[in-house]
Amino acid sequence: MIVTRLDVKDYRNARSRTVEFKAGRNAFVGANARGKTNLLEAVYFAGVGKSFRTPRDKELINSDCDRAYISVTAEKPSGTETVKIIIDRRANKRVAVNELPISRMSELMGVCPVVLFCPDGLKIVKEAPADRRRFMDISLCQISKAYFAALSRYDKILQSRNRLLKSGGATVNTLAPWDELLAEEGAKIVKSRRGFLDRLSGFAYEKIAYLTEGAEALALEYEGASGNDIGEIKSELLSSIKRDFDNDMRLRYTHSGPHKDDIKITLNGTDVRTYGSQGQQRTVALSLKLAEISLLTEVMGTSPVLLLDDVFSELDVNRRKKLLAALDGFQTIITSTDDDEFAEFGVNVINI
Ligand SMILES: Nc1ncnc2c1ncn2[C@@H]1O[C@H](COP(=O)(O)OP(=O)(O)O)[C@@H](O)[C@H]1O
Ligand SMILES: [Mg+2]
Repeated sequence: MIVTRLDVKDYRNARSRTVEFKAGRNAFVGANARGKTNLLEAVYFAGVGKSFRTPRDKELINSDCDRAYISVTAEKPSGTETVKIIIDRRANKRVAVNELPISRMSELMGVCPVVLFCPDGLKIVKEAPADRRRFMDISLCQISKAYFAALSRYDKILQSRNRLLKSGGATVNTLAPWDELLAEEGAKIVKSRRGFLDRLSGFAYEKIAYLTEGAEALALEYEGASGNDIGEIKSELLSSIKRDFDNDMRLRYTHSGPHKDDIKITLNGTDVRTYGSQGQQRTVALSLKLAEISLLTEVMGTSPVLLLDDVFSELDVNRRKKLLAALDGFQTIITSTDDDEFAEFGVNVINI
């Protein structure tokens, strides 16, 4: 897939801006605070329906305006796709795909697949489990509308169950219907994440071999409910919910379930989350992102657009070269404060 055009209006610091992209490498170049990351964020938003910088969509509206507009056009083997988004200070955001308003955000998933590389992403290995769950979720949501729907339902059920626990009105009986629903949706999430990690590890293994020019044995393992099918996972989830009943009542929130799960990442048998050097953790993070590109491309039958925000400044020369070479052939949009480094690559430089 190639993103050919981005239009924004009253969006962050851009009152009106149109950008045209080409296949291959594109770079937003400009001094600090000019709005490079903002524009990358707009393309990302069209891909996954939210920002990678804030959970509050309204922050994207120019501070002098009431509404922000984002429009992204992409060429796919199946034809042209357009995504139009209106973020409104006083109403829910509105999204149209190919000019048709969508009623569920799940319909946006997969229309314009994106993979983001950013300095925070390089920390994914050592950060909290929530960051590793987000990594799986963002990928899986783009791959599967059903996953997005299950995740949204799970979050709502979890919030309801937690509200009940906080209200003080929780008993075994009042919780029971929520437990059942939570395990039902939770099992779908766990099953999909396990399948995702199985496929991802094959790619990640290849990518780390490429990055390190050696045989670093990388293994990814899902830490959460076990079981081979939905039924088994569901009953395991139900038993952990029961097991945690006293804790849930005492601390008034739900202790176990896919919202607490993690990815165990081992390198040559050692847990890199805690014991990896910073260099190893970065190499593993890059391998995971490169693996994600391969997986999305395979599953979706078209390649995602790769968004790289300030990652090169964070990498040593060797990793930088390897990364650039690995991204060859994909459409990339890079942000940078200086265009010298792109001169030799025939990059489409877009001055911001
Ligand atoms: N909602 C908004 N309204 C107006 N300006 C904004 C808004 N959000 C961010 N900005 C401005 O955008 C600029 C930062 O843009 P950013 O894309 O992060 O810059 P960079 O080019 O360094 O990546 C800042 O000057 C900030 O004040
Ligand atoms: Mg920036």
